[in-house]
Amino acid sequence: MTDDLVRRAAALRDQLHEHIYRYNVLNAPIITDAEYDRLYHELVALETEHPELVTPDSPTQRAGSDLSEEFPKVTHPAPILSLSNAFSEDDLRAWEERNLKLLPPGTQLDYTLEPKLDGLTIVITYENGVLTRAATRGNGEVGDDVTPNVRTIRSVPLRIPARTDGPAAPERLVVRGEVLFHKDDFQALNRKQEAEGLPRYVNARNTASGTLKQKDSRITAARPLTAYIYQIVESVGMTWDKQWDILGYLRDLGFKTPPGAGFYPTLSDIIPQLPTWESHRKDLPFEIDGIVIKVNDLRVAAELGIVGKDPRGATAYKFPSQEATTRLIDVAVNIGRTGKVTPTAQLEPVFVGGVTVTSASLHNYDQVAKLDVRLGDTIVIKRSGDVIPYVVGPVIGARDGSEQPILPPETCPYSSDAIVQPEGAVDYYCPNPLCPERVFRSIEFFVSRGAMDIEGMGPQTVMTLIEQGIIMDESDIFYLKAEPLLELEGFAEKKVENLLASIAAAKNRPLAQFLASLGIDGVGSTVAGLLADHFGSIEALTITARAVREAETAFATAAQPLIQTAEQIPAEEQESVERGLARLRHPLVELAPRYLGVPDFKDRLARALTPLLDNHPFSAAILDDLTATLRQLIQAAEKPLTIEGLGPILVDNVVTWFADDFHQRILEKMRAAGVRMEAEAKVMHSDSLAGLTFVLTGTLPTMSREEASALIEAHGGKVTGSVSKKTSYVLMGESPGSKADKARQLGVPIISEDDLKRLVSGG
Ligand code: IVH
Repeated sequence: MTDDLVRRAAALRDQLHEHIYRYNVLNAPIITDAEYDRLYHELVALETEHPELVTPDSPTQRAGSDLSEEFPKVTHPAPILSLSNAFSEDDLRAWEERNLKLLPPGTQLDYTLEPKLDGLTIVITYENGVLTRAATRGNGEVGDDVTPNVRTIRSVPLRIPARTDGPAAPERLVVRGEVLFHKDDFQALNRKQEAEGLPRYVNARNTASGTLKQKDSRITAARPLTAYIYQIVESVGMTWDKQWDILGYLRDLGFKTPPGAGFYPTLSDIIPQLPTWESHRKDLPFEIDGIVIKVNDLRVAAELGIVGKDPRGATAYKFPSQEATTRLIDVAVNIGRTGKVTPTAQLEPVFVGGVTVTSASLHNYDQVAKLDVRLGDTIVIKRSGDVIPYVVGPVIGARDGSEQPILPPETCPYSSDAIVQPEGAVDYYCPNPLCPERVFRSIEFFVSRGAMDIEGMGPQTVMTLIEQGIIMDESDIFYLKAEPLLELEGFAEKKVENLLASIAAAKNRPLAQFLASLGIDGVGSTVAGLLADHFGSIEALTITARAVREAETAFATAAQPLIQTAEQIPAEEQESVERGLARLRHPLVELAPRYLGVPDFKDRLARALTPLLDNHPFSAAILDDLTATLRQLIQAAEKPLTIEGLGPILVDNVVTWFADDFHQRILEKMRAAGVRMEAEAKVMHSDSLAGLTFVLTGTLPTMSREEASALIEAHGGKVTGSVSKKTSYVLMGESPGSKADKARQLGVPIISEDDLKRLVSGG
């Protein structure tokens, strides 16, 4: 053994001691749990290889325990074991090899695969089918009695059979599982915290642990924990041969078992599942930190025995860590096509989840303030799946006082216009539609794949054309001529020819596709499809938008006297005043949807505007004006507001966009250039798909989504956005989303573009 190894082990011990102290005593960790794990496992690996390196004070010699003095103790009927880890396919193969060597020659191993739920262990005892005791893992031998708290968890049956036709439990049954927060429950909990002016919880697992260890079980009851059960620790009078059967039995008894668990005849069948689980991890309703692989044959698993606290018959494949700490060097300001200002964290490069990351999203300045992130901070970043890494929060314990607050910019870095924050908005905006960056972003989006799909016009080309003054907005694209292009660097004749052909083809895109390309906030392909179906032309949308805007202006005039006197109302009525003001300022969103189809809403409107109206001397006349102008507004906005799937905020966005003169001038220029602005007449070719409902996912080999939808509709079929039991087929292309998984779950047949063509032709 070399001195290097001795030194490395000592260094690891020192670092781990420091981090343990910071985490447990100071409550101010400076590294993530994942990084701690990495250091810890490096030490375990060193010590396993060279047992002489183990010192009595090594952190590995401390039996893990989460015991607290505040709870009575429960002795577990059998040790509550832990799991060894594997970090690669090689580790898993080596694990199997080691096991096979301990077993009679020729033994074949089959396995179960279960998600490794990122919560905390719970051990629950049932006597004659009644829940009598529930305990934490503690030190593995003895745990804290948290029975009253576990009783509040609704997914834990208080008695078995949990349902009338279920099997009875053995006389004594002890099960083990995992308690956690579902992601949406955790988010809801944080929204509640925020609404009460309390700090947000950062980590779901720690919060679940804190929740389970409340002295007052009413607090636990108010927080929606969920429990999944995967093991039988003890059962009197019953035995099982296979882990796979245990999962089925637990389900029959009325427990939730780890969703997605599966049986696999060999390890080679498990390997391809690992990347699938990793990439879909973000779509699961709960956090997982890996996959547990268990020898299915329980007798064999028992024969394999235990090393330390880890049974040989199971192992945890851990995903590459997704969290890392690094330093925030700078904040870049991005301006989007709507003018929205987005701060992006510029980081000291850090390796996380298999890639080197140098920037991370900060969402908006509201979020920056909430997280209290400062320039120069050590921060935790997280990368889940393919999404852009984001900043989880600062490591407060690592501050030295030199950190600087991060504030929104006062002016736009591209146009120098003063940045504005519209009333009630979270975001800041560059208000100038001619801002060069906004223009660039809109055009870049307009021509992109999935929008107008103009080939040969990547971001670099768009930038060059803007810089050369050849295009100033989207409409100029349709007036491009060969000459000025040929003079640009890198634009050979063939390239220009192709580009112009692609632009000519784009003039004829379906109306829905055109609408989705305009970059209206919230108008993607689904909403664009609804607008195209219900309005049928850009002109019809413009007429409606202008009528709505006109009615809004009339309403605003009628509301003016009330808004002006709002300040004189006593402070104790502040809240109702604010609510009334919001209604007066945004009648399209706040009032019109409520009174749609209500012939006489005057009295209701009067109530919705107390106390504003009560405090005005001319309230009767004002109410008359408001009623009349609101009626005008409802009439004008009735059509978009009654489209199913189009909420009032979206309607407001659409109206704002189409009522804008700047946008109208661009549309006018496009119309003059021959861009199609009407829906294609719907021709019915056959009714071969009548009564069938389709959902599209992924990129199809030859058709765009719009073309596929048009084909389905032309043959009498229907296209909807989400998969349900009523869906007849899911049409799947390359890189499908979660809709394909949903289809598999529900047993909805999945078909290809070719299958669709066969169906259409009656095949
Ligand atoms: S089996 C001997 N199965 O992971 C059986 N554990 O790192 C050992 N965990 O303490 C546990 N999901 O809290 C098992 N499907 C699963 C699990 C799981 C999460 C946790 C468990 C354990 C930890 C080990």
